[in-house]
Amino acid sequence: MRCAVLKELRHALDLETRPDPIPAEGQLVVELHAAALNRRDYWITQGLYPGIQLPVVLGSDGAGTVLAAGSTEDAGWVGQAVVINPGWDWGEDPRVQSDRFRILGMPDDGTLATHVVVPTEYVAPKPPDYSWHEAAALPLAGVTAYRACCTRGRLESADRVLITGIGGGVATMALMWARSAGAAIAVTSSSPQKIEQAQHLGASAGFLYTDASWPEACLEQFGRPTLIVDGAGGPGYNVLIDLLAPGGRLVNYGATAGAPPKLDLFKVFWKQLDLQGSTMGSPDDFAQMLESVRRQGVRPVIDSVFPLERINDAMERLAGKDHFGKIVIDCGS
Ligand SMILES: NC(=O)c1ccc[n+]([C@@H]2O[C@H](COP(=O)([O-])OP(=O)(O)OC[C@H]3O[C@@H](n4cnc5c(N)ncnc54)[C@H](OP(=O)(O)O)[C@@H]3O)[C@@H](O)[C@H]2O)c1
Repeated sequence: MRCAVLKELRHALDLETRPDPIPAEGQLVVELHAAALNRRDYWITQGLYPGIQLPVVLGSDGAGTVLAAGSTEDAGWVGQAVVINPGWDWGEDPRVQSDRFRILGMPDDGTLATHVVVPTEYVAPKPPDYSWHEAAALPLAGVTAYRACCTRGRLESADRVLITGIGGGVATMALMWARSAGAAIAVTSSSPQKIEQAQHLGASAGFLYTDASWPEACLEQFGRPTLIVDGAGGPGYNVLIDLLAPGGRLVNYGATAGAPPKLDLFKVFWKQLDLQGSTMGSPDDFAQMLESVRRQGVRPVIDSVFPLERINDAMERLAGKDHFGKIVIDCGS
């Protein structure tokens, strides 16, 4: 098999050839047709992630064909087209993941490879009308956005949804879930072009978060959001608290811009706000997300596709600010 290995922090990934893996009992080997990148892969290369263990094959997202099963009872999977659920050992409580929870692609070797070993419980049939690239783009961003919008955010058609940093992989998926719910949607971005792209995908308004007057423009053109889905945090978090409609929900799944320097607590209690955190999703969230894809035809937004051999160019694009949606890796099989 071929794989992209991170051996040293802040260094390029090394492409290696290794013996093809053999599945143990309860495991499958998936021959990957495509993988996809997440900001997590970048954080790990920079040493900005807890518990880093090297060397490791990065990559949490993947779709492919099951090549081999470690147990006879799993033999029915062989030859099937699958997507991989990258959230492992969630545990029994649907409200929160267990201490054992981990994400495929560190410490376990991940999907930036031609083959990956996966416990059988973490594969699901690929959505039949998805391309391999779409199937690989879906899992991590899809389940994170699904849980943030639907499970935690209780998204409904009457909502006015604001999605921050629309260029992000999770943010574009949140746009898809909000659109499929029939909600009114506004977005923020650092780029006028990305706002335009979001408007083609169903947003009715968009604002440059780099322009300090954007909250006033939002109030004027869109009104107060009832649900905000945010992956940035940082100093802008208090602006979101200010904008949110009384009784509204602010669901945060990330902190790309760091921790907020202060919290405007008076507004939080006076406006009866729900400030929520959300991470990845439970196995039920993953199954419901796939069901929603099937029923509502939701599709991930693909920014670009790179062959595995050009993984470091793809990582460079992830590190920059130009992408809109998911960066997909073609694994070549
Ligand atoms: N909790 C979880 O389970 C989970 C899962 C996935 C991701 N995350 C976290 O969520 C964040 C996004 O992940 P991703 O994979 O979607 O990343 P990504 O595709 O790399 O997107 C990052 C986006 O963040 C936006 N951004 C940057 N600074 C911002 C700011 N000050 N205000 C608003 N938006 C800003 C940018 O949007 P524009 O280009 O439009 O300006 C950028 O495109 C990361 O911090 C990641 O670690 C958490």
